[in-house]
Amino acid sequence: MNTATHILLGQTLRFAADPFSTPFDTAAQVERRGAVAIADGKILAVGAADSIDVPQGAIVTDYGNALIMAGFIDAHLHFPQTAMIASWGKRLIDWLNSYTFPEEARLADPEYARDIAKRYFDIALSNGTTTSVSFATSHPASVDAYFREAQSRGLRAFTGKTCMDRNAPDTLRDTAQSAYDDSKALLEKWHGRDRLEYVITPRFSPTSTPDQLAALGALWAEHPECLMQTHISEQHEEIEWVQELFPQSRDYLDTYETHGLLGERAVFGHAIHLTEREEARLKEVGAGMVHCPTSNTFIGSGIFETARMKAQGQRVGLATDTGGGSSFSMLRTMAAAYELSQLRGTPLHPAQLIWLATCGSAQVLHMDDKIGNLAAGMEADLLVLDLASTPAISQRSTRANDFWEAVFPTIMMGDDRATKAVWVGGKPVQN
Ligand code: GUN
Ligand code: ZN
Repeated sequence: MNTATHILLGQTLRFAADPFSTPFDTAAQVERRGAVAIADGKILAVGAADSIDVPQGAIVTDYGNALIMAGFIDAHLHFPQTAMIASWGKRLIDWLNSYTFPEEARLADPEYARDIAKRYFDIALSNGTTTSVSFATSHPASVDAYFREAQSRGLRAFTGKTCMDRNAPDTLRDTAQSAYDDSKALLEKWHGRDRLEYVITPRFSPTSTPDQLAALGALWAEHPECLMQTHISEQHEEIEWVQELFPQSRDYLDTYETHGLLGERAVFGHAIHLTEREEARLKEVGAGMVHCPTSNTFIGSGIFETARMKAQGQRVGLATDTGGGSSFSMLRTMAAAYELSQLRGTPLHPAQLIWLATCGSAQVLHMDDKIGNLAAGMEADLLVLDLASTPAISQRSTRANDFWEAVFPTIMMGDDRATKAVWVGGKPVQN
């Protein structure tokens, strides 16, 4: 069905190349008076406002000086942890046992799961996140709740049943067989429906037996079109535990690889304390790593080396890791990535930060031809950012000498008040 053409006017930002390997001002193309034309859920054209054809009957929305860009892609999060985000004082394994597992157990109630899914997407959209890649809980109904909510909002969204058959409470544990059966049934039910993508999801090696990892590896071999997501090398205690649980394995990555869980479509959260062999193998395979900076400081995990990983040619995305992460906001997440990069002595440029939160995450998902950028033919998931959303930001951005100086205060100090508008699948989100 043909829908009316919309023309959005404002400043526009799109990426012609990766700003980690191409000079920023070539990689990032900014129009001070730009336009994006959209119809039938797709972007028709992007360019200078005076160069875009405005067909008769087009609906024009003028956002003034606000910045029109691709919606954020949060490449690793746990929507079931929405209600326990910002829980105090533990390190990873204690944090999981004290806060996370009890909350995830509550999603056994499908009504509660629906309530949390709705709450999660309300918050994500208010922060300009148009694609979320989430872990569900081990309950199949939590996957249904998430996908139904995303579907009703026309979102492109990813999730999978989080499989765990050991080192977790009874109420959350499945088995190797039920993990395979339930994941397969959910995959067949949801994958490729509208804009939804099923992700095969072992939580991490400590909570899966070798049999369960192998069962999920077998499922992935049957469905190589799907992504596989998990965690790797987040904290030192976790890595030591993996060595005890898998004494035959060369390293953490090997626990996945020997069970058929390493490939180009694998997405590994955290990846902070990798060995040289693991880094080389991830690069060779072309698997994705997802940087979760607010989580890494909040749980005390360590400092991901974004610049070094990008210089190695790794596929790197950015994520909140809600609720290990302490914010739903990808702006706050970019700010944390910047701060960690400072601690490494390699400050990331604003163009690199925005690229990671959009194109970088899309590359990890193998979706960079569809989402994460403004270009003709891409899906029209857009964010309109107010670059003067608070008095503190406004007084700073008005004295900026160039575009990047005008954007950086919003990256560092912005929150959901900076979200002026969000478009999903070519339609404005009403809030
Ligand atoms: N490792 C295994 N599960 C989790 C989780 O839920 N959050 C984080 N941050 N790390 C994990
Ligand atoms: Zn996580």
